[in-house]
Amino acid sequence: MGIIQSIKEQGMNKLQVISDFDMTLSRFGCNGRRCPTSHNILDNSRVVSEDGKKELKDLLHYYYPIEIDPERTLEEKCPLMVEWWSRAHDLLAQQKILKGDIAQIVSESDVMLRDGFNELFDQLHKYSVPLFIFSAGVGDILEEIIRQANVFHPNVNVVSNYMDFDDNGVLKCFKGPLIHTYNKNHTVLQGTEYFQQLSTRTSIILLGDSMGDLTMADGVPSVENILKIGFLNDKVEERRGKYLDAYDIVLESDETLDVVNGILRYVLTET
Ligand code: TMP
Ligand code: MG
Repeated sequence: MGIIQSIKEQGMNKLQVISDFDMTLSRFGCNGRRCPTSHNILDNSRVVSEDGKKELKDLLHYYYPIEIDPERTLEEKCPLMVEWWSRAHDLLAQQKILKGDIAQIVSESDVMLRDGFNELFDQLHKYSVPLFIFSAGVGDILEEIIRQANVFHPNVNVVSNYMDFDDNGVLKCFKGPLIHTYNKNHTVLQGTEYFQQLSTRTSIILLGDSMGDLTMADGVPSVENILKIGFLNDKVEERRGKYLDAYDIVLESDETLDVVNGILRYVLTET
């Protein structure tokens, strides 16, 4: 394929990887059961009351079908996503969640990174290729997941929704700007210098599982080659056409990072 060849020819010093987290680096399912998103990890944990759990589940059942509905436009979805995230964050902020409990909440959860995550993170670290994780999930949770997996290397940068704790370490709210599925673009990156520092990294491998992930590289000033790899996890038949139009490679029912690792191995090794 032309793009992969160009990325290889440009070399590893020109490459960066931009990835979504939930259901892209983490698994969608295991043995027929759904795996949790970073939000779900909190929702399902012992620190959220039974009433809180029910309300958060009701929100998920109402808004998630809207999030993945191929018939609705972005204009329709955006305000509804802001509504979902705001309501979920308000509910979580009422639960007196302690910063000191996050590590245990994560270690007791059912979260799983996709098979092959070690090779992905370790290869990128070995060749000093920046990995930018751009997530509409919860930053504190996803950072803890990759820390506990021993892959939070110095080449990893995260932009996400972070919790704001008071002086006693109790969650009081989330810091802005709010990142939801469909505003993952330059508008929420304005306060961050990350892309400016990386303006020479003009080859991009983008990993996502949502149509909203396609704009994650918009803030990079002068993209020369971009390879978009999409995990199509849910509503496969209904969404296949749109995914094939938008992504260069579409992976169905694949809980591994094998394809990504194979491409990286080819791009990063000298031949
Ligand atoms: P992302 O994978 O694009 O970063 O988006 C995060 C996912 O989190 C998205 O698919 C919706 C999901 N989500 C929950 O599971 N529970 C919630 O309360 C919210 C607000 C989002
Ligand atoms: Mg995702």
